Amino acid sequence: MSRVICIANQKGGVGKTTTSVNLAAALASLGRKVLIVDMDPQGNASSGLGVKRYENQDGNAYHVLIGEKEIAETVQKTKLEGLHVVAANPDLVGAEIELVDMPQREYRLKNELAKVASVYDYVLIDCPPSLGLLTVNALCAANTFLVPLQCEYYALEGLSQLLNTAGLIKKSLNQDLKIEGIVLTMFDKRNNLSHQVVTEIQSHFGDKVFKSIIPRNVRLSEAPSHGQSIFDYDRRSIGAKKYLELAQELDDKVYGVAQKVEEVVKAENQQESISEPEIEKVEDKKVELQEDTESEAMVPPSIPVSELDGGANV
Ligand SMILES: Nc1ncnc2c1ncn2[C@@H]1O[C@H](COP(=O)(O)OP(=O)(O)O)[C@@H](O)[C@H]1O
Ligand SMILES: [Mg+2]
Repeated sequence: MSRVICIANQKGGVGKTTTSVNLAAALASLGRKVLIVDMDPQGNASSGLGVKRYENQDGNAYHVLIGEKEIAETVQKTKLEGLHVVAANPDLVGAEIELVDMPQREYRLKNELAKVASVYDYVLIDCPPSLGLLTVNALCAANTFLVPLQCEYYALEGLSQLLNTAGLIKKSLNQDLKIEGIVLTMFDKRNNLSHQVVTEIQSHFGDKVFKSIIPRNVRLSEAPSHGQSIFDYDRRSIGAKKYLELAQELDDKVYGVAQKVEEVVKAENQQESISEPEIEKVEDKKVELQEDTESEAMVPPSIPVSELDGGANV
């Protein structure tokens, strides 16, 4: 099983790339196999992982989307064990236009990813700051989407548009799409506004908000210029600690339930003479656990956030 997660928010500078790179690195350090697909023409996730632009000229996300290369030909290793990347470069700007007339234009990434996804426990797709065809491809290829929100006054600006787009995609193009959660980023504990934003977002979105909150940490902003994740650059920083916490929280959510079901089934097989009522108990437990997973439904478009974004409904 592989979980494909699209990291999206059409606002720029909210921490999408920082979250993609460091969450991926943290998951890899937990022993997971992870692929990052860089869908932003700026290529910040690629360069943040030490992949230089000239190194990915002849095989990157652009070639995958327009069908010039098989995705497997474009996957590159990074310095981190278990972390691979499909890089981006500025050509990707052109893909947005070239895709318009192509068949299956919304599913180009999905169709290619299907060929390699099973190798990985996680595929994280770093999106550009727009809701164009690149992000649509990412949302169509994904099981879930994760939204980084910066702890600032305009945090919710654009969120309703993103949720509406995701809602439309769920209706027409990817019926299984769900929200993975909201990650609060750049939290500043000395700033009252940061605390207010956290309280308000938690009260509106409840358990859709990850408990791990990413603080503002200068080490996180320095790491990319060294082509390193925070775990190579400064693994003792608060930024590293918090991204590791986030990875653990996500991993428990994604694979915790699957593991519990596996344990129940294993226990069931080990018991030689298992009685009927006990089998029923195991079956009930499985259903319960499945229901838990299913309850991660998409935020319904009718959640009112009127107090926060000036009257529009999400
Ligand atoms: N938690 C953080 N603490 C300090 N700086 C951060 C943090 N997260 C992101 N940044 C910095 O903020 C800027 C925008 O982040 P980035 O991840 O590139 O956002 P996006 O991909 O959404 O445009 C970058 O310069 C990045 O280094
Ligand atoms: Mg980015």
